[in-house]
Amino acid sequence: MRGLFITFEGPDGGGKSTQIRLLNEWLTARGHEVLVTREPGGCKVAEEIRGLILDIRHTSMTPVTEALLYAAARAQHVEEVIAPALEAGKTVICDRFLDSSLAYQGAGRKLGFTTVADMNRHATHGLVPEITFLCRINTELSRLRVWGRSVPDRLESEKTDFQDRVLRGFDELARRYPERIKEIDAGRDIQVVYDEIIGHVRALLERREHGA
Ligand code: TMP
Repeated sequence: MRGLFITFEGPDGGGKSTQIRLLNEWLTARGHEVLVTREPGGCKVAEEIRGLILDIRHTSMTPVTEALLYAAARAQHVEEVIAPALEAGKTVICDRFLDSSLAYQGAGRKLGFTTVADMNRHATHGLVPEITFLCRINTELSRLRVWGRSVPDRLESEKTDFQDRVLRGFDELARRYPERIKEIDAGRDIQVVYDEIIGHVRALLERREHGA
């Protein structure tokens, strides 16, 4: 059976990493072979591209260049890491995937979902996560977390109206794909958020077991 592909999405500083770590532990304890990875990145070539995209000095990078670089990193990551792991039956948890490109480059940079989806066709080969957790927190809290954590990268430094467009992009994706995208209020207590995520994963595993 093909492995399970889970993604986490949402604004920066939304508490994704903690929940990814906890879900990894939960799945591993239940005998799943889990691979945790991230975008942009997850393998050597894609990590190099990540460095290029997020470099704060590249103020002149155009939206199209940025979108193509994310897609290029994804192409390498899918072919080298994600697809082989899924074929080997592993559970893959990925911190961001195509939805981030749709929200950030499609909505945030105003390229539109269709253009960004087209750019990514060769990168994903149609690979879609089975479940996506959209971890939402309000923009202010997100900003506070990002600025309190480290020096913000090029995208994190974007103005509030860009971040708002990104959030609305994620809203629109959640409206379009309610079966796949589970909206999680990540501003709550870690344990409460965790319980909700585990509930969804448990239900998904049961559906898979029963061939639904
Ligand atoms: P990270 O901080 O969650 O690792 O992601 C790095 C930044 O890249 C974050 O601000 C979101 C952004 N991003 C995009 O704009 N498009 C994409 O396709 C991905 C994967 C990330």
